[in-house]
Amino acid sequence: MKASESGNAHAYRASILHFTGDPAFQQHAHEWFEDGLLIVADGRVQAVGEYAKLKSHVSADMVLHDYSGKLIVPGFIDTHVHYPQTDMIASPASGLLPWLETYTFPTEHQFSNPDHARDVASYFLDELLRCGTTTAMVYCTVHPGSVDAFFEASEARNLRMVAGKVLMDRHCPEYLQDSAEGGVRDSETLIKKWHKRGRQLYAITPRFAATSTDEQMRLAGELAQHHPDVFLQTHVAENTDEVAWVKSLYPKARSYLDVYEQFGMLRPRSTYAHCIWLDDEDRARLRATKSAIAICPTSNLFLGSGLFDFAKADAAHVLLSLATDVGGGTSFSMLQTMNETYKVARMGGTHVSALRLFYLATLGGARSMQLEGLIGNFAYQAEADFIVLDPQATPLLARRVARTNSLEEMLFAFALLGDDRAVAATFAAGKLVHARTAHHGDRA
Ligand code: GUN
Ligand code: ZN
Repeated sequence: MKASESGNAHAYRASILHFTGDPAFQQHAHEWFEDGLLIVADGRVQAVGEYAKLKSHVSADMVLHDYSGKLIVPGFIDTHVHYPQTDMIASPASGLLPWLETYTFPTEHQFSNPDHARDVASYFLDELLRCGTTTAMVYCTVHPGSVDAFFEASEARNLRMVAGKVLMDRHCPEYLQDSAEGGVRDSETLIKKWHKRGRQLYAITPRFAATSTDEQMRLAGELAQHHPDVFLQTHVAENTDEVAWVKSLYPKARSYLDVYEQFGMLRPRSTYAHCIWLDDEDRARLRATKSAIAICPTSNLFLGSGLFDFAKADAAHVLLSLATDVGGGTSFSMLQTMNETYKVARMGGTHVSALRLFYLATLGGARSMQLEGLIGNFAYQAEADFIVLDPQATPLLARRVARTNSLEEMLFAFALLGDDRAVAATFAAGKLVHARTAHHGDRA
């Protein structure tokens, strides 16, 4: 790269890992540069590779950041999380439905106040960045103002975020209820206002089949058909009581997932959280329609919902991604989410490699959302969302990593022992948006 071309260019030296495929299905699915260099210009990836090969591209007016001894990976992607539930994380209840009634609905009520929404949105995004998450698929509340507050906070940080207004016109307190037409009209207005404005993307968000009338489901499905590049997010087959309830509400549907299919909601860019109580036909339908699963292990264990079946999902080749599902989930950290994912899979007799866990938390999320090439890896011209992981973050991590003998073992230590403390720095579109401590390795 010539000096005149480099403009706002930065180079980052570190060990670098990213994915070009799913390690469960592809042999050469990752690139690993033990002494690597990532070159970023104007917020986009210019090049990634061995330092020795790329160092001649570092021009005099480029800033070189030396993170030697640390690990750079793409920013984590959390494909299912509720920002309004931030303040009720770790609230005890005897399962999903009592938890919704006792804590969730009263907490979400507070978002009728835009000042409160702004305050929580700001905290939530900073917490994501502290944990190394640069993109998330986010539930707001039923209040349109909660969506404005969220996107304003995201836009101010220049983050690639997907979010939407909850649609909910029955089986909830009156103070949280919209109407079939009103909810969908508000969604349309929010799509016009926010979808593709800077880095913001909109998701049509029926909470779940139990809290929308047939009419709201029908209108939401139509809206999704009219806007194929807009996202769609909802919950499915999380908990056996919920499954039985949905069956009683939609007795003609073949399955819970089939309710969504009947209303035209299985399509690319739709993400289904949980997917625990599915059958093989459901998995085949997800695959055929390019709908994605958001696996939410900390939430599923916390609420006692069940164990996600990795073997069956992989046999069906469904798009998979990882998600925290805070406040049902108990951690904002995708490293902690990998930890619990590993154990949930282990309980089902599946060994998930650490490479695959890192894939699922990065490129797997991007692929699930049909955003590959834009985020999730270091493809040429991808948006430069990346994080710096520190193997010295805690005494135990340092001790364990020092004794690992392979990339797989080292990543496994990060996945099982790591959390927000392991994230030394987070960059969004090439800009530093979180630094755990001051960094002294820079030279101008
Ligand atoms: N199902 C319907 N709403 C919710 C929610 O807020 N959290 C979870 N985990 N499941 C849900
Ligand atoms: Zn959820």
